[in-house]
Amino acid sequence: MVHTGAHIIAVGNEKGGSGKSTTALHLAVYLLHQGHRVATVDVDSRQQTLTRYVRNRRATVEAAGRPIPMPKHVHLPSAWGDSIRENQRTELDIFNRAIDGLRGEVDYIVIDTPGFDGNLARLAHAAADTLITPINDSMVDMDVLARIDPVTGEPIGTSPYARNVQRSRAERLAATGRGTDWVLVRNRISNLGSRNASQVQNTIDRVAARLGCRVADGIAERVIFRELFTIGMTVFDPLEAELLGGVPSMSHVNARQEYRSLAAALHLPAPAQHFEVMEPMRLSA
Ligand SMILES: Nc1ncnc2c1ncn2[C@@H]1O[C@H](COP(=O)(O)OP(=O)(O)O)[C@@H](O)[C@H]1O
Ligand SMILES: [Mg+2]
Repeated sequence: MVHTGAHIIAVGNEKGGSGKSTTALHLAVYLLHQGHRVATVDVDSRQQTLTRYVRNRRATVEAAGRPIPMPKHVHLPSAWGDSIRENQRTELDIFNRAIDGLRGEVDYIVIDTPGFDGNLARLAHAAADTLITPINDSMVDMDVLARIDPVTGEPIGTSPYARNVQRSRAERLAATGRGTDWVLVRNRISNLGSRNASQVQNTIDRVAARLGCRVADGIAERVIFRELFTIGMTVFDPLEAELLGGVPSMSHVNARQEYRSLAAALHLPAPAQHFEVMEPMRLSA
């Protein structure tokens, strides 16, 4: 599929600590290494994890003096005035201006959202061509999507977050004719293959069928992610001791494979070709 302008990927889940910021930078850096132009947008004013992640990356790259690709990063702050309506207008304005500016400059825009409901988070969800929701691998964390029958594991009610996403998908489809491809991803999967873990898989499949979204293969629990954050690196960067500040491990290699599978499962459209408009040739007599 070819499209015009940047493809927008939002990473969202109203719960903190589900792996949104980690996933956002990993996908952005994956796309950079594929040779694409990528922007990262942080609308999480409180945590600013993605902004700190990119800052850490810049420091590592400068220290290493190596050509490691960087996304074009933008942080959009929340408005803190007295009037809620005025704040919403301000946020809509800065969001639209930032995204419109980036659309023509890059191939992909990756937006990281906060772990709470807010105006900027809603704008990001509404703008998303692709929405990725990482979910911690436990039954407790499923409640961000649906109320689950504790006995049968059957989803019996849609949660406020999932309702908001459904509403914004429907509005977007009505307004533009384009939907949002919503992809759920289990994150921090324990290697133990516990009974609970397979129950999570079973339930997430049923929730996805109910919500009309897809489920991608998940990402395992690995300590390397916390270390990678402090140096601003991802598993897609060169796995070298000089960059990682330590010896690369099988964890890096396996995590790279998992994130690569996730990126492939997104079925992202190829960026539009950027043709230069040429003046018609004039033949001289
Ligand atoms: N697959 C994983 N295995 C282990 N730790 C992870 C994994 N993914 C994320 N983390 C860690 O979990 C914490 C929360 O992740 P983060 O991406 O900041 O979540 P969110 O943005 O949803 O709040 C961070 O310390 C991060 O390094
Ligand atoms: Mg975050």
